[in-house]
Amino acid sequence: MPEQLVGTVEELGPGSVRGIGDWAVLNVNGERYAVSRRCRHLRADLANGKIDDDGCLVCPWHQSRYDPTTGRMVVGPQAGFEKVPGLDTAFIQLTKLWPLRRAEVVERDGKVYLRN
Ligand code: FES
Repeated sequence: MPEQLVGTVEELGPGSVRGIGDWAVLNVNGERYAVSRRCRHLRADLANGKIDDDGCLVCPWHQSRYDPTTGRMVVGPQAGFEKVPGLDTAFIQLTKLWPLRRAEVVERDGKVYLRN
């Protein structure tokens, strides 16, 4: 399984989000995850997102929230889109069938690697 260097353990500390290739790698309270980096809504780069208090990855454009343990959207697009009837439910249902892809993240010798 190919590995890609993501960065050092220090660079990928708790609360960090970093893009590498097609992936966003994040550290939620010491647990690292990798998810495909294009939002299912309008393809914003999730590597520019933030981690919220619930450990979800928040899209930088319209604040959809993703559970990195499953790749599923748990809150749909905001910034006006939340007023569109059914949109939230539709995206949440969609990502049950079509979640963000996930990859394995491993730590070795002070460095963090992505395996996919
Ligand atoms: S592009 Fe991510 S919520 Fe709109």
